[in-house]
Amino acid sequence: MNIRVSDPPSKTVGRIDVSHVSISLGEGEKAFEAVRDLDFTVPPGELVCILGPSGCGKSTLLGALAGHLQATSGHLALDAQTILGPSPDRGIVFQQHTLFPWKRVRDNVAFGPKMRGIGRAERRRAADEILRLVGLEGFEGFYPSQLSGGMQQRG
Ligand SMILES: Nc1ncnc2c1ncn2[C@@H]1O[C@H](COP(=O)(O)OP(=O)(O)OP(=O)(O)O)[C@@H](O)[C@H]1O
Ligand SMILES: [Mg+2]
Repeated sequence: MNIRVSDPPSKTVGRIDVSHVSISLGEGEKAFEAVRDLDFTVPPGELVCILGPSGCGKSTLLGALAGHLQATSGHLALDAQTILGPSPDRGIVFQQHTLFPWKRVRDNVAFGPKMRGIGRAERRRAADEILRLVGLEGFEGFYPSQLSGGMQQRG
């Protein structure tokens, strides 16, 4: 399998449609509507920044777009395909990094391909290429604790 990591942003795919989306978190009396009746479209290739005070629902919205959270009502779609769950087509960089502290940077990046059954040499080559693209060339053999916070998020 060939892993492509250097495709430029596409002008034809990547349209996001969010229509009348509400998302409730928690159960019963503690339930909280973190997103209410949100409606917007992001055209393919457009870079969008979501701004708002702490706790206003930004991560909740991203969690739903990633497919980790279910909307209570409304509809989310990527390129007219309804978002029903997580997919390798939709990535998310978490606020708190999610690295294995006991694995080197290269092996952290190569973990996803490893789980998909890609061979050691191929996944290491792909990991090194990704690390080069995000400016972490030379840090492949470091452990997460040896990187800055921003470097850890890029890993
Ligand atoms: N399990 C839960 N039950 C009830 N309310 C919750 C739960 N999880 C999160 N919330 C509430 O949902 C709201 C939205 O949280 P969210 O993490 O989306 O905020 P945010 O905009 O990403 O904030 P920040 O800028 O601080 O990261 C917050 O007010 C939070 O208290
Ligand atoms: Mg957040």
